Amino acid sequence: MPQIAPSILAADFANLQKEVEMLNASAADYIHVDVMDGIFVPNISFGLPVTEAIHRHATKPLDVHLMIVNPELYLEDFVNAGAAVLTVHVEACTHLHRTLQEIKRLGVKAGVAINPHSPIELLSEILEEIDLVCLMSVNPGFGGQKFIEHTYSKVANLKKLLLQTGSNALIEVDGGVSDQNARRLVEAGADILVAGSFVFGASDPLATIASLKSISV
Ligand code: DX5
Ligand code: ZN
Repeated sequence: MPQIAPSILAADFANLQKEVEMLNASAADYIHVDVMDGIFVPNISFGLPVTEAIHRHATKPLDVHLMIVNPELYLEDFVNAGAAVLTVHVEACTHLHRTLQEIKRLGVKAGVAINPHSPIELLSEILEEIDLVCLMSVNPGFGGQKFIEHTYSKVANLKKLLLQTGSNALIEVDGGVSDQNARRLVEAGADILVAGSFVFGASDPLATIASLKSISV
């Protein structure tokens, strides 16, 4: 059974409390919070005050995905805003080892996201510091994009690498996840599925989350 992390990016921002309460009542394991700065990615979503507001109403842990340059400048702020998992991009971190140590020193789980073009081998020397690897299955920046099919083999290869190295890191897949690809992703080794538009665009988001959650392979 995968863990499910609905992305609040696809929610109705004018009714954020209601949307968070819906997720509280759902089978979701996390609330995925997409922070975009308009520099690392070509879009601006929201930042600290909105993350903090989500946290005030959430009973599920916040899985905060930082799509920002220089994320090391804001780690403590996002932990104070309620992050339980803090994920930075390998492409945005010159000193990734130091950044991961700092995230863990702050007492939360350390995640590393990698863009579709980045090889998983970029992480091979640092897996023991990582609690979660977020494989981007779209180019980060927007919800509602088409799933990149190459992700299946990337998940499988990462799973192999984690087993070889004895790493306990979880594999998260983020972008374009739906009932069209979720089962195959879990079969390949995905532990956490992020889903934005598939959940919030559904006529019954609760049932949609439950159906993703019930995948067993
Ligand atoms: C993309 C974000 C994703 C996105 C997922 O930049 O990191 O988390 O919100 O949304 P969907 O599921 O609509 O692709
Ligand atoms: Zn994300």
